[in-house]
Amino acid sequence: MSLKIEFTPYPLGHEIKDIDVRNLDDRDFDELQAIYDRYGVIVIRGQSLDPQEQIAFSKRFGPLERFVWEEYNMRDFPEIFVLSNIVEDGKPLGLDNGGRYWHSDMWITEQPPRGSMLCAIEVPHADDGKPLGSTWFASTADAYDTLPDELKNKIENLSAVFSSKAFSDFVGYNKPADDQDVHAANLAKAQAQTKDVLITHKMVRHHPRTGRKCLYVVEGAITHIVGLDPQESRALLDTLMNHVIRAGVVYHHNWQVGDIVMWDNYSAVHCAIGDFQWPQRRLMHRTTLSSSAARAQEATPSTSSGTM
Ligand code: OGA
Ligand code: MN
Repeated sequence: MSLKIEFTPYPLGHEIKDIDVRNLDDRDFDELQAIYDRYGVIVIRGQSLDPQEQIAFSKRFGPLERFVWEEYNMRDFPEIFVLSNIVEDGKPLGLDNGGRYWHSDMWITEQPPRGSMLCAIEVPHADDGKPLGSTWFASTADAYDTLPDELKNKIENLSAVFSSKAFSDFVGYNKPADDQDVHAANLAKAQAQTKDVLITHKMVRHHPRTGRKCLYVVEGAITHIVGLDPQESRALLDTLMNHVIRAGVVYHHNWQVGDIVMWDNYSAVHCAIGDFQWPQRRLMHRTTLSSSAARAQEATPSTSSGTM
């Protein structure tokens, strides 16, 4: 092992020290990727990548996918999805208020992405200098491992129904929008025109690269567990979600400009904290790793991560 890791006291969020991701040799890259696979969320500070550099580094992990709402992707670099509260000439620079609930990304699709890389370009601060707009992370792999056996057995073959409408109601997209808020108005319009989309996912997913079992839960999006009565279903969903984010296991990432955080979309959930307001500015660039490369490995899960 040659990379230096500074461990958090949590299952994830460990920091890789003293590297420049612009020029990692293959050996260090392989080690970095194994650490990412193994722990699910890694932090690399002090990088300040431009869009081209971020795309080049991201592609070393495999093919990328574009964020579904093209209007939030950079025009010249559409692999970069912009998250921001900045509006220039009446046009939002990116998606505002995104991800303010415990989730993994793109649960609405059959094959959600492998993971994401988020780079901090502008970070809001409180008057006392404390960073605002943190992102919180919890491990769904650790959550599975630490469930009592009877719960593991109970959920082994259960599936849950995820609903776009349940989610919209939960996050308030369907509330009348404040017409100052261009973004909320757009979302409300889009939601009003869209019918409910339902998708069923297994509650336990096998990580395609490590073989670990991960709990599949998303706050506010799941209507019920197939085959259970509504009360039991709700109680079980609450138990599982509360277990994933129980006290003592959640990593809070306080952003600094130049940070890279990568999360694994199978073994981690995340939640954006909206504790800041314009004129405090937040600007983040995300690339999204496609699951296709990860799934191609499914038959032969990687052993390298098991040796670390
Ligand atoms: C995301 C996301 C959180 C944040 O990009 O998928 O949830 O803090 N971002 O911006
Ligand atoms: Mn997200």
